[in-house]
Amino acid sequence: VIHSRIIQELKINSFLALGYSSPNPPVACVITDEENNILSSAYTQKAGLNHAEREAYQKLGENFNAPHNLYITLEPCSHFGRTPPCIDLILSKNPKKVYLGELDPNPLVRVRDSLNLLKNNNIPFEFSKEIRDISKEFLIGFFFRIQKNQPRIFIKSAVSKEGFFKSKVQRRNKISNSYSDTLSQCIRQSIDAIIVGSTTVKLDNPKLNFRGVNSIHSYTRPKSDIYFSTLIHIMEDQKFIDEINKRNNQPYRIFVISGNNFPDTDFFIEQKKLGIDKTIFIVINKIGHDSSELIKSTTTNPIYYSTQLYLRETILEISNFFQFNNLLIEGGNSLYKLFYKHLEKEDKIIEIISTTSIEVGEKPIWHGEKTLLSYDSFQINNDLWKIKGV
Ligand SMILES: NC(=O)c1ccc[n+]([C@@H]2O[C@H](COP(=O)([O-])OP(=O)(O)OC[C@H]3O[C@@H](n4cnc5c(N)ncnc54)[C@H](OP(=O)(O)O)[C@@H]3O)[C@@H](O)[C@H]2O)c1
Repeated sequence: VIHSRIIQELKINSFLALGYSSPNPPVACVITDEENNILSSAYTQKAGLNHAEREAYQKLGENFNAPHNLYITLEPCSHFGRTPPCIDLILSKNPKKVYLGELDPNPLVRVRDSLNLLKNNNIPFEFSKEIRDISKEFLIGFFFRIQKNQPRIFIKSAVSKEGFFKSKVQRRNKISNSYSDTLSQCIRQSIDAIIVGSTTVKLDNPKLNFRGVNSIHSYTRPKSDIYFSTLIHIMEDQKFIDEINKRNNQPYRIFVISGNNFPDTDFFIEQKKLGIDKTIFIVINKIGHDSSELIKSTTTNPIYYSTQLYLRETILEISNFFQFNNLLIEGGNSLYKLFYKHLEKEDKIIEIISTTSIEVGEKPIWHGEKTLLSYDSFQINNDLWKIKGV
């Protein structure tokens, strides 16, 4: 049994890596002495910078050679990528024992097998179920990309107390409370890209950027969902809030644009201010020359043309090209529909049930579906967050 302190530290570091380390896997590493005291902990940095193991050893200084154990959520890398292999560093530090979560699905690592190298150097290692649960939660998006060429999907929707995510009258509704908003912001910076449908772009002028997190008050804890229970822990500690705000990790912002429902110029002006390197536009239905020029001036990325019929394929193609591990669908029903029927059991539907009332409206597509499971729920002030999945 691994000490709960170590498990907690691995969860926190995994969460902090999520999104930030992309497209590299969000790996966490803990180094302890032989009495389970944590000497160092770290997570994989931005692409091209340190992996979790190197970062954790670096914190102890170059001359560190005390007896220690190593805990890592993923098998250490053994190939020369943008950084030298972590396994060589580990061999040179000669830990007493290495505890691991998952095998690396990347075929490149099997050429020079880290596990064989540990064995040949008489360093015992073991795969632990408790670490594997953490790896499964945080690394699954990376595994999906490598193994299935698709990202892990998060679908998020705020609904009124009657279950409506939008009102019949076409207007922007503020549904969830401000503490839910700060949680949503923390989710955004952990995700590689966020996408919204064409009517949502037209009506809401959504920004989709990460604007910072604050502490939250009066809430209950998730019972089993590792992502959300760690998210709450992160938001309870000002040190992590400061770290996340300082890093300012921004997701890609993907907008479906329809010629039938073209957004106002203000939307493009706002997006330009937020930075055009992380905007991606998918155009469905015909648009005029001026509209196309306006889009071109709002992104450094190619403009994608699609139809409602192929929209999901286009989105998956873009996700592969940009190497997204996790994708967040923020609505509305056109995108909910496209992705709902393809959901995998590791994907998540996040439904935020507020106390706001909408008299006549529309429910998200999954409402009334008998096969949908409720995995967890917790209260953020008077909003009820329900985590569902297939
Ligand atoms: N509560 C929340 O969390 C939340 C989140 C996001 C949005 N919203 C609200 O939701 C509303 C927009 O959602 P929405 O569902 O109306 O629109 P949407 O998903 O943003 O976009 C719908 C558009 O997609 C196109 N489309 C083509 N085939 C479709 C199909 N089979 N089903 C649906 N759409 C298809 C249509 O555009 P064309 O007619 O141009 O072909 C349609 O107008 C807004 O009021 C927004 O404020 C709420």
